[in-house]
Amino acid sequence: MSLDALVFDAYGTLFDVHSVASRCESFWPGKGAALSTAWRVKQLEYTWQRSLMQRYAPFSQVTREALAYACEALGLQLTVTQMEALMGEYQMLSAYPDVASALEKLSGHKTAILTNGSPDMIEPLVKQSGLSFDAVLSVEAVKIFKPAPQVYALARTQLTAPANRIGFVSSNGWDALGAKSFGFTVYWINRAGAPVDRLGFKPDAILKSLGDLPEVLL
Ligand code: LAC
Repeated sequence: MSLDALVFDAYGTLFDVHSVASRCESFWPGKGAALSTAWRVKQLEYTWQRSLMQRYAPFSQVTREALAYACEALGLQLTVTQMEALMGEYQMLSAYPDVASALEKLSGHKTAILTNGSPDMIEPLVKQSGLSFDAVLSVEAVKIFKPAPQVYALARTQLTAPANRIGFVSSNGWDALGAKSFGFTVYWINRAGAPVDRLGFKPDAILKSLGDLPEVLL
């Protein structure tokens, strides 16, 4: 299958959300990794809850509220200054080490990001990363989160390509399957070696690292 475009998920695929852990650790020694995990888990839960309840709020708000929840759940006092510092970290997340060289090898393809991230979060992050894409698409345009089909439809419309000629790349298994359910050709970057969710269908390819993608596509 030759592809018209490659569409990447952002958080967890290009950018490591757990790069916030060291700042968390500096505020609450011994709790950094636990807080980072609880924060991400609740952030995703809130996106699914809000989508099902039809109560969309921008990802920046969801991320803030998830941090407040995660701190309370772990018994950590969170000051306004700490909240702002940790939200600031989200605009400076590290790209995974395999990202820059994979994108360079794939530079013959049209590339885009399709993310839950609201423009106030994703735009500064992409800018500081030095990575470049033909388009950065946010769910803000459709006001519902992944894996709602409206989100993947946004990429199909904006990139004017048939769904199966869009290669979708995500490390989030539930996002990979959302994209597959919609009809994209899906590459799951299964960094954690997790099993495939039991939903009755699978990604088109399962890779260990983004560094393996160019070889599969070229
Ligand atoms: C995103 C979330 C799923 O970037 O990580 O859309």
